[in-house]
Amino acid sequence: MKSLVFLSALGAVSALAFPHGPTGGSAAAPPKIAAPPAPAQTPAHGAMPGHGAMPAHGAAPAPAHGAAPAHGATPPAPQTKLESITPLFSPTHKRIRVTYGTYTLPPFNFTKPAMPGMSMDMGGMMDEGGLYDASNHAAPLPCTDCTLKHASVSLTSPDGKTANYNTGAYLHHLTGAVRGPGRSDLRCPGGTKRIPDGMERMLAVHNDRNETFFGAGGTDKAGFYLGPKDVFDLELMLKNEVNVEVKVVFAIEWEFVEGRPEGWADVRGIWMDVAPCSALMSDVSPPAGKTQFTLTGDAWTSTVDGTLLNTVGHMHDGGVEVQILANGKPVCGSKADYDTTPAYRPTKETLALGAAEMSHISHYSPCIAIGEVKKGDQLVLSAKYDFEKWRPATNLKGAHSDVMGVAMVFVRLERKI
Ligand SMILES: *[C@@H]1O[C@H](CO)[C@@H](O)[C@H](O)[C@H]1NC(C)=O
Ligand SMILES: *[C@@H]1O[C@H](CO)[C@@H](O)[C@H](O)[C@H]1NC(C)=O
Repeated sequence: MKSLVFLSALGAVSALAFPHGPTGGSAAAPPKIAAPPAPAQTPAHGAMPGHGAMPAHGAAPAPAHGAAPAHGATPPAPQTKLESITPLFSPTHKRIRVTYGTYTLPPFNFTKPAMPGMSMDMGGMMDEGGLYDASNHAAPLPCTDCTLKHASVSLTSPDGKTANYNTGAYLHHLTGAVRGPGRSDLRCPGGTKRIPDGMERMLAVHNDRNETFFGAGGTDKAGFYLGPKDVFDLELMLKNEVNVEVKVVFAIEWEFVEGRPEGWADVRGIWMDVAPCSALMSDVSPPAGKTQFTLTGDAWTSTVDGTLLNTVGHMHDGGVEVQILANGKPVCGSKADYDTTPAYRPTKETLALGAAEMSHISHYSPCIAIGEVKKGDQLVLSAKYDFEKWRPATNLKGAHSDVMGVAMVFVRLERKI
């Protein structure tokens, strides 16, 4: 149920920050809405390096990615709308839906012109069809000086129906990161090509669209704190499977409490990956000539004492299971399920428009209450693939697309104050 009073209150705020936001009158006590200085959108078509935050941040919003907006004229800036909705977990929470779009995804078979200066480090992404970079490096946050409890995302057609393989377009990946004073990525600290200093990854969602709890659930006294100076970096990559344009709308719902309540613990994300911190992206080439293989990442030596909460794995089609080992012992196995709902199946219509007749990962078994972690413990992620069981995706050149092995593991840290 929407709170319309709230919606118009937010409209007044968001109309200032986001020229295309809703307009509305005034109402009492709207929550504090983060108003990033320059909410520039980057609707440039074309592949972007990176699964994880884009390199080259700094204050400047929306680096141009070197790519010309090749698909016709420059697309108009997508709309951003904030609205207050009913909280799912507690009446003392607030819940805000931030809607981005409409985006028009180029056809899968649309071949991009050469992108000068962008050829290195692009890896296999360069040859992926139908990719649309909807990233926004100063994206609206639901609140500032608040503690996040839950996030869920949706990708729909403009008519509000779910968009997925059955409609031709899907959510390739979303990586949320926060830039702000004192921020540092737990897994890759100190500034890397991919994660600049002062930035912290805190949200990872893929096409299984698993909800995210910043805590053991929606009501425990723990969460991810957003400070007044934090800026939200939304790396959002959408993908079209069919040879015609497809229009989609993307939304994130956030549930939070105001401030940083006393006695609460902090929740942070540990980005486990088969690719090292030095890599510009998480995509890796499948080993040549192999159809069954396991990729294993570098060990992360924990810098914290805490409790590992939840995670789900992420792989590309062909993947079977993501495993996390703590000091060599398996503590989490997140298995990929395929085609669990019809939304993940191509239809007669999408097949006629060029979609691949194949199964897609639709769900991962979650790991919950993973266990304690101590400073010095070593965590490793591995990802098992079986192309004989599940067909991998192919790119524009007919080669196997790159693969991935990733899991954002949330950790609860008691506050030392
Ligand atoms: C993924 O979803 C499941 C089921 O709703 C949930 O239990 C789990 O905590 C979610 N994963 C994360 C990382 O929050
Ligand atoms: C893409 O496919 C469509 C439908 O088959 C076709 O009409 C169009 O010419 C193709 N475009 C390119 C650039 O190959």
